[in-house]
Amino acid sequence: MKNGVVIVGAGHAGVQAAAGLREDGYDGPVILVGDENELPYHKPPLSKTFIKDQEAKPQPLRGEAFYTGSTIDYRPGIRIDRIDAGRRLELSGGGVLPFDRLILATGSRPRILPLPGSELSGVVSLRSLADARLIRALSAQSEDVVIVGGGFIGLEIAATLKAAGREVTVVEAVDRLLGRAVAPVIARHVRQRLEATGVRILTGTMIARLEGENGHVSAAITTSGERLPAQMVIVGIGVVPNVELAQAAGITIANGIRVDQQMRTSVPEILAIGDAASYRHWLTGGDVRLESVQNATDQARLAARTIVGHADAFAAVPWFWSDIGDMKLQMVGLISGGDSHVVLGDVNENKFSIYHYAGNRLLGIESVNRPGDHMLGRKMLGAGFSPTLQTVATGPDGLKAALAAFQKEEPVRAAE
Ligand code: APR
Repeated sequence: MKNGVVIVGAGHAGVQAAAGLREDGYDGPVILVGDENELPYHKPPLSKTFIKDQEAKPQPLRGEAFYTGSTIDYRPGIRIDRIDAGRRLELSGGGVLPFDRLILATGSRPRILPLPGSELSGVVSLRSLADARLIRALSAQSEDVVIVGGGFIGLEIAATLKAAGREVTVVEAVDRLLGRAVAPVIARHVRQRLEATGVRILTGTMIARLEGENGHVSAAITTSGERLPAQMVIVGIGVVPNVELAQAAGITIANGIRVDQQMRTSVPEILAIGDAASYRHWLTGGDVRLESVQNATDQARLAARTIVGHADAFAAVPWFWSDIGDMKLQMVGLISGGDSHVVLGDVNENKFSIYHYAGNRLLGIESVNRPGDHMLGRKMLGAGFSPTLQTVATGPDGLKAALAAFQKEEPVRAAE
């Protein structure tokens, strides 16, 4: 393969795909193209330490030596306009890049809030390092911050900026926080604790328009007419997958770039991974598009293996995390469709886990400041082990013993 593999997108997925190719012994050219002018960096700290600490530096995903030492040809600051039918990428500003295999790791972008006043300066969203730098700079000049959207991004930033001494109001459209991501009991807990730190949270509320002075935002007006002063408005109302390149090339799209269990799109030499890829999940049989670092990196490893000729199917157990103030939230499994749950630990102590079940099948675990439960959960779900509710009640030691017993028995069962 003389043109080698071109990877479009240098986020968590793209960089891991490049690494995976080399780890799996691929020795052709690997070209990693990104549209930002940065050394690829970790995204999770951007909503936390990075915007709080004016001196914080971005954390590179890999040191510079990775790109030279492992001969990954990293090309920053390049946008791809089109994938042509002759296995070539057309670069914005001229030039073409031929490929034998293409990995689309194009990620997602923040949803836009089309409001009167959205164009004012000081109205921002967070996705890239450049966005985080802007938020950090604006934060230094802002006393009052309004955050639109009570999802992970909005609440992580709310906790961070409150701790940095800002007056923070979160405006969430629906009647609860974190609706897409966690069970109501966790969302209520997060709300209570954030409010106890002084964050104001308005649920079931929308912003009708933004007001400005001299081109800079000065207030957000809710649909019920309340005027919320704001020198910065941060919009965190979800993301949309970047599918346009694939779509224009005639690749099948279904809430994302549709891929099979080996990460191949409807065009066999083109693969897709990460936030932009949608697929049928092996665990639930449902169609998903997961937005997480773990999903990105696990799919990247698999795409690399597909390219070097392995036919593994995607079988990673999904997990997610979020740090909101003093709450480390960790989720493993996919909990939708659950019909009962059991709690371990103490909600009042801010340390508990919720085990979600459908019938007698463990779907997933959500933990707050109980990392041991999360890790054990990853092992249990990975092994296909569903402890009974009674076993969960025996706590981590009982669960560990039950998992060990299950794993001992498994080879026997498999042989039967
Ligand atoms: N006004 C107020 N709230 C809104 C509006 C609106 N017009 N539209 C949507 N929302 C709310 C949703 O109800 C939801 O609670 O915004 C929230 C968005 O939450 P998420 O979908 O979780 O998205 P976000 O928090 O932006 O996270 C985006 O970053 O951390 C990652 O995993 C995360 O990939 C995700 C991404």
